[in-house]
Amino acid sequence: MSGVHIEIGRPQEAVKQWSSKSIYFSLLESNHSATTQAESAGFLAKQLNETHSHTADMPANIEQLDAWLSDHNEVVGRQYHEYLAARKAGQPRWYFGTKSHALFFLRAVAPTKLVDGSWLYGLMKHWQDPRLASLIKIYLEELGDGVEAMNHVVLYRKLLKLNACEDWKNLDEKFFTQGAIQLALAAHTDSHLPEVIGFNLGYEQLPLHLLITAYELKELNIDPYYFTLHTTIDNAQSGHARGAIDAVREAMPLFGESRDYMQRVIAGVKLNDVGLSTLDVIKHFDLQGEVVRILQSKANIGQFMHSDRCVIGGKTINEWLRDQDQVAVFLYEMEKIGWVKRHQNPEDSPFWKVIAGDKAPMFGVFTGYEQQVIYDWIAGEKIESMPMLARLGRPWRMVEKQSVAQEEARHKRYGNVYDFQSGNKITHQLRQENDFTQDQLSFERHVHGIDDEEKLMHFLVDWMSPAKHYTSIGLCATRYFKSHMDSLF
Ligand SMILES: [Fe+2]
Ligand SMILES: [Fe+2]
Repeated sequence: MSGVHIEIGRPQEAVKQWSSKSIYFSLLESNHSATTQAESAGFLAKQLNETHSHTADMPANIEQLDAWLSDHNEVVGRQYHEYLAARKAGQPRWYFGTKSHALFFLRAVAPTKLVDGSWLYGLMKHWQDPRLASLIKIYLEELGDGVEAMNHVVLYRKLLKLNACEDWKNLDEKFFTQGAIQLALAAHTDSHLPEVIGFNLGYEQLPLHLLITAYELKELNIDPYYFTLHTTIDNAQSGHARGAIDAVREAMPLFGESRDYMQRVIAGVKLNDVGLSTLDVIKHFDLQGEVVRILQSKANIGQFMHSDRCVIGGKTINEWLRDQDQVAVFLYEMEKIGWVKRHQNPEDSPFWKVIAGDKAPMFGVFTGYEQQVIYDWIAGEKIESMPMLARLGRPWRMVEKQSVAQEEARHKRYGNVYDFQSGNKITHQLRQENDFTQDQLSFERHVHGIDDEEKLMHFLVDWMSPAKHYTSIGLCATRYFKSHMDSLF
C-alpha cells in the first residue's frame, strides 16, 4: 500500500497554502492583476478565519473604549517602569543580547515596517468623506505629510541602510505574513472597512515592546528614532491611539447595526495576531545558526573563489563550500585549527582578519550586518568586554550627520523641495531639463495640467500607494494632497 491516506467521509477539499511572500510582493506592484486580487482576498479570508477564535482584550461596547485606552496605557507605563527599575538594578538587556541580535530584529521586521500605515491606503480615494477623516489623517501622518524626514517608511529605509541591513528581501516566508495582511487590507478595504478600522485600532496602541526596543537599541548604538517616534505619535491623548478610537466612532453611521459593526471591528483587531509577533521575532534569533546561514548564502559563489592550497580538516575551502550542509562542520574545523578563536577578541582570529577591515583580502564580501554577526559569534562570552568601538561601531549620531549631509546634497541636485502648505517648489528652479529631472518635471506638468479636482486627487492618491509614497514623487504627491485637504477644512 502506498503512503497515500484517504479519509473516508470527509470532503477532499485542498487547503490552499497562500504564500505570504509572493502576496506581499504582488500587492506592492502598481496595478494588481485579477489573480493577485483573488489570492489576496483568499489569504485575508483565511487569516480572518484563523484568528476568529482568538480573544481580544478590546471591549465590544464602543462607550468603553476610552476607559480601555487609559487602562492599557497605565498598565504599559507601569510595566515599563518595572523594566527600567530592573535594568537599573543590574539586570541585562531583556531583548537583545548583542548588537547583531538587534540588527537581526531590524532586518526581520523590515517587511512589516516598510509598509507602515499601508492598511489605511484603501481609504484615500474616499478623501471627501468626513466620516473617514481621522483615518485619512493617520495615513497622511504615517507618510510624514509628504515631508521626507517624517515619512515612516523613509525613516525605516534609512535605518536599514545605516545599519547595512538592506538585504531583507531574502528573508523567509514567515517574516512577510504581517506585512501581507496589511497590504491585503488595503487592497480589500471596500469589502472590509470595519476590519481595517479594527486593525488600525489594535496596531496603533502603544505596546510595551516598543518602549523596551527603543531603550535597548540606543544602548547598542543603533538610532532608536523610528521607535521613539512611534511612542510619541501613537500617544493616547492626541496621537494615533486616540485617532484610532475616534475613527471607530466616526465611521459607525456608515453601518446601520452597531453590534455587527463592532464585531467586525474586533475581528480586525485580532488580525494583529497574524504572523510573528515582535517577541517571536526577537526569540527567533540564533547566533550560531545565523553564522551558518550567512556562510551558506556565500557558498554559491565562494566555492569557486578560493585557492586550493588552503586545506582545513582535510578539505579545501572550495570543497567545504560545495556542500551547504557541511558549513556547520566547516566552522567547527576552523575553530579546531585556530582560524577562529572563540570567546576572545576577534582580532586574534585569522578568519576575522581575512574578512574585516578595508585592506582585508575578503573586503566587501560580507555586509555590515553579516560582519557584526560573525564578530559577536567569535567574541562569544567575552562580547561585553570587547572595546566599545569594535563591538558597537561609531556613535549613530555621527553616522546620521553624514547621511543627512548626503541627503541634502541629493536634494540640491534634484531641487525636490516643496512648500508644505502650497505644494509649490521653493528651491531654485531646476537649472535645466535633463535626464535626471525628467520624472519630476513631467509629474509637475501633469499635476498642473489637471483642472478637475476629482481627477487630480485620483492621480495623487495613486502616487501615495504603499509602493510609491516614499519616493521623491510620492512624497511630492502627498504634499499636494495634504495641502488640498487643508484647503477644504
Ligand atoms: Fe508609523
Ligand atoms: Fe501610527
